[in-house]
Amino acid sequence: MKPELGVCYYPEHWPEEVWAEDARRMKDTGLSWVRIGEFAWSRLEAREGVFTWEWLDQAVEVLSASGLKIVMGTPSATPPKWVVEKYPGMLAVDREGRPRKFGSRRHYCFSHLGYRREAARMAASMTKRYGRDPRVQAWQIDNEYGCHDTTISYSDAACAGFREWLAQKYQTVDALNHAWGNVFWSMEYAGFDEIDLPNLTVTEANPAHWLDFRRFTSDQVVAFNRAQIDAMRPHTDCPLIHNYMGRVTDFDHFKVGGDLEIASWDSYPTGFLERNLHEDDEEWRARFACQGDPDFQAFHHDLYRAVGKGRWWVMEQQPGPVNWAPYNPIPLDGMVKLWTMEAVAHGVEVVSYFRWRQVPFAQEQMHSGLLRSDRANAQAQIEVAALAEEIAELGEIQHSDAEVALVFDYESQWAWEIQPQGKDFDYFRLVFEQYRALRKLGLNVDILPKTCRDFGNYKLVLIPGLMTWNDELKSAVEAFDGIVLAGPRTGLKTIDMQIPSSLGSDFVDATVSRVGTIRSNMSIPIADGGEIIRYYEELEARNVIEHTRDGTAVMVREGGRVYLGAWIDQAGYLRVFNTFCKETGIKTLVLEEGVRRRTIEGKVLIVNYNDREVTVEGTVIPAAGYSWQ
Ligand code: GAL
Repeated sequence: MKPELGVCYYPEHWPEEVWAEDARRMKDTGLSWVRIGEFAWSRLEAREGVFTWEWLDQAVEVLSASGLKIVMGTPSATPPKWVVEKYPGMLAVDREGRPRKFGSRRHYCFSHLGYRREAARMAASMTKRYGRDPRVQAWQIDNEYGCHDTTISYSDAACAGFREWLAQKYQTVDALNHAWGNVFWSMEYAGFDEIDLPNLTVTEANPAHWLDFRRFTSDQVVAFNRAQIDAMRPHTDCPLIHNYMGRVTDFDHFKVGGDLEIASWDSYPTGFLERNLHEDDEEWRARFACQGDPDFQAFHHDLYRAVGKGRWWVMEQQPGPVNWAPYNPIPLDGMVKLWTMEAVAHGVEVVSYFRWRQVPFAQEQMHSGLLRSDRANAQAQIEVAALAEEIAELGEIQHSDAEVALVFDYESQWAWEIQPQGKDFDYFRLVFEQYRALRKLGLNVDILPKTCRDFGNYKLVLIPGLMTWNDELKSAVEAFDGIVLAGPRTGLKTIDMQIPSSLGSDFVDATVSRVGTIRSNMSIPIADGGEIIRYYEELEARNVIEHTRDGTAVMVREGGRVYLGAWIDQAGYLRVFNTFCKETGIKTLVLEEGVRRRTIEGKVLIVNYNDREVTVEGTVIPAAGYSWQ
């Protein structure tokens, strides 16, 4: 596969006279794709049923005349005012019960069936016009589901939908009362119509009530997306794509991705570092402020490769300073190239930059583009033009299989969010820290959904924090002859969010008799090295292979099955993972902080996220730079 580059463009923001020159300059920069249309509803249908396609026809014509392939977006993330006037109940409602207003974007509730139909109708109209146009070669549905905290809504539409969803799931209200344990605090219901959403209760609502609500909410995203697919499919054979985000975990991306041909995501490394990671580590944030976290992008590349069943893009790549994080530094020169090359080494098909030119008006006027608003080239354009040549020289990229895999599960995120047990228990972070340690050992990592039935050629599989063992994973473990390292907190709930009767992990002969959480300034040393942080379990087991310094069990092993009953620090993970890698014949290379590598068939990419040069096995890698070996 030969990776390609692209850009996000908004012809409706610029006079028609500049489109042709923009298109020519895109092509000259080495870009082959351009994404358009995803926010243009008010210009396409200013009043219900009155369409103005001519300008978009013209934009398609001009862009493709320069040889660019078009990704067309459906505009359901930005319903215009008349749609909101038509369906006042479509606005999403926040946890405090307040409707969110018109005046920005994503002001809709996924459960509102009227709006769902409206969005599908618009998607059908667009695909009727451009679905078989050979100049349009891919479609993006909506834009960033969940952005601006919009997945969960406490609207009347959500309440009605939730009741129906519960009735279908449980059939009788007695079954629901039993599954939720509603005898507790006299919470029993006499009918599905009595059940409300779990917000605004006096103290916490029943965790089972919350978990079902989170499942329902996620299913609404799947259904909303599917409504557009169903409307579009009769009119196009192009791949359908959605652009997911970094660390958005409130709907099941694997389920949405199951309906689409390609997964894509929007990568904003410096914004993510400031907003989505390391709230408690100011030193780390300062060190990588102008580069982004050295593992965050890779994690999502690997995640979305799995969500896309092997096919994935970066639909939006940060080109310079963004406008939406608490601090928005200027990335170090070279980072736009590095971020892109890292995606290439993870098997990306297309990296598309957001956006072509900085826009001088409205909310994102302080967000950079490949061009400045005065049309001069910005630093990013210079880097991308150079990079396009480098990528062309690389030729075909062949994915090389990882030996290590890590299971990631959205439902577990919801479960532990609902019931963290300690302020610092965060499922995403637990998985990410294990992933980071694997990367520090120089390894390629694949991410797997819990529906994986077969661990194939992997040698080591990690399953941290999975709330419930499911049949697919159980049979994959059964048939596997490598090492499976599960825990902490794996298998410690039933699907009804109750404690399993065995109290055990269903995996090794051990019982978790108690769990404890640890203050952020405390830790428990492990005898062989590393420390327990944040969360630990008391294990009753025979085959204990690791202890704390005072002799309490930490890890249990039976053949290839290992259960780790604690959240441990990076030093601990590095030691433990390295031992299992050695045992299973996986070659590791311990890398210094900020340096990572990724192997493809016949080549290795080493990236340096540091602001100073480093030497790796005799090769000097410049600051914010990389080297192919
Ligand atoms: C993304 C979004 C884009 C733009 C960009 C700015 O989240 O999809 O439309 O807002 O952020 O960084």
